[in-house]
Amino acid sequence: MKIGIVGSGAMGSGIAQVLVTAGNEVLLYDSNPIAIEKAGQILEAQFQKLAEKGKVTFEEAETYFDKIRLSDKISELKDSELIIEAIVEDLETKKDLFQKLESLVSEDCILATNTSSLSIASIASACQKPERVIGIHFFNPAPLMALVELIPAVQTDPDLVSKVKSLVENWKKLPVIAKDTPGFIVNRVARPFYGEAIRILEEGVADCATIDFAMTSLGGFKMGPFQLMDFIGHDVNYRVTETVFKEFFYDPKFKPSFTQKRLFEAGYFGRKSGKGFYDYAQNAEQLKPNENPELLQIIFKRILIMLMNEAADALFLNIASAEDIDLAMAKGVNYPKGLLKWADEFGLENLQNELDEMYHFYHEDRYRCSPIIRNLVKQNKKFY
Ligand SMILES: NC(=O)c1ccc[n+]([C@@H]2O[C@H](COP(=O)([O-])OP(=O)(O)OC[C@H]3O[C@@H](n4cnc5c(N)ncnc54)[C@H](O)[C@@H]3O)[C@@H](O)[C@H]2O)c1
Repeated sequence: MKIGIVGSGAMGSGIAQVLVTAGNEVLLYDSNPIAIEKAGQILEAQFQKLAEKGKVTFEEAETYFDKIRLSDKISELKDSELIIEAIVEDLETKKDLFQKLESLVSEDCILATNTSSLSIASIASACQKPERVIGIHFFNPAPLMALVELIPAVQTDPDLVSKVKSLVENWKKLPVIAKDTPGFIVNRVARPFYGEAIRILEEGVADCATIDFAMTSLGGFKMGPFQLMDFIGHDVNYRVTETVFKEFFYDPKFKPSFTQKRLFEAGYFGRKSGKGFYDYAQNAEQLKPNENPELLQIIFKRILIMLMNEAADALFLNIASAEDIDLAMAKGVNYPKGLLKWADEFGLENLQNELDEMYHFYHEDRYRCSPIIRNLVKQNKKFY
């Protein structure tokens, strides 16, 4: 299939690698000639690395790289059967691009966006034929992360969803279908992992190292929340938190924190800037966690119940199926277990009581128990 990708940054070049490896003809376009040149170098090095690791032969690596056409001319996208947009996260810029693309391509070219936080409906509204627009949301790094969220807009042709689903499966990725709502599945359900961890820090219950240690040692998470935020970068992670909050009409449960906002304002973005919650200077002191088992258990349980509650609420509001919500968190952000399965194991009545206790203590909306948990408890049922 002839696939065009717009935007040759971190996501666009990763997606190009995925698609060419799956046997497609790929044209990678960027309006910035320097970006396209850089993407070429990165992709070449990437394929070389795969060959050195024995994942592909040196010949294959060369063929794959040769099959990606790099261009800074938008007109070259005209024969594409599918275009995936991965440019800057700005609604007006994306709408403008979709208008241009539509004037260029054939009637039945599918137009997809890799947006993380914008509404697919608003991007599609820029097109004459909005029924051809869909969200195809990859995770970073695209070649390594198996999950792809598919997000039909209200305007999307329902037949397009199953068509794109089988395309994504052919790319050896795992598609899940999500409603066009802020954060889709992963970026919504994951919010408490960061938000509740910061809240625990702000209350002075424990420091970053202790909270991270609780989540990795007791929860089996690959990284603790502060390590992960520093890794993602506070410029990205804070912005997503703020966008999700605004887009949810300021639902207080998604309220961002001043702690992270100040890091963002100070330019303490995390690993990439050398400082975030942790200091990455070579001679910086390594913070040691408090390994008190009771404290670790309190922290772990508090963050976990918030995650399970958010997963439950996403199901309650039909954002996706239970299976897709669990698959999304395991394959999009490497959670050790699906959160709804985890909730079943934790016990739903137990979960409801824990949340109610938090709610009664704080009188804050963020701790409100999802009605689906109450319903299941009443009926003595589980998610699975
Ligand atoms: N980085 C992530 O972790 C991640 C994960 C999933 C989705 N996304 C989404 O993917 C998209 C791209 O993110 P990224 O991190 O790759 O960004 P990036 O900044 O690395 O790359 C964006 C590229 O788009 C190019 N560009 C900007 N405007 C353009 C235009 N009008 N026409 C053509 N090219 C243009 C830029 O020159 C740049 O090379 C965003 O919508 C983002 O929300 C990002």
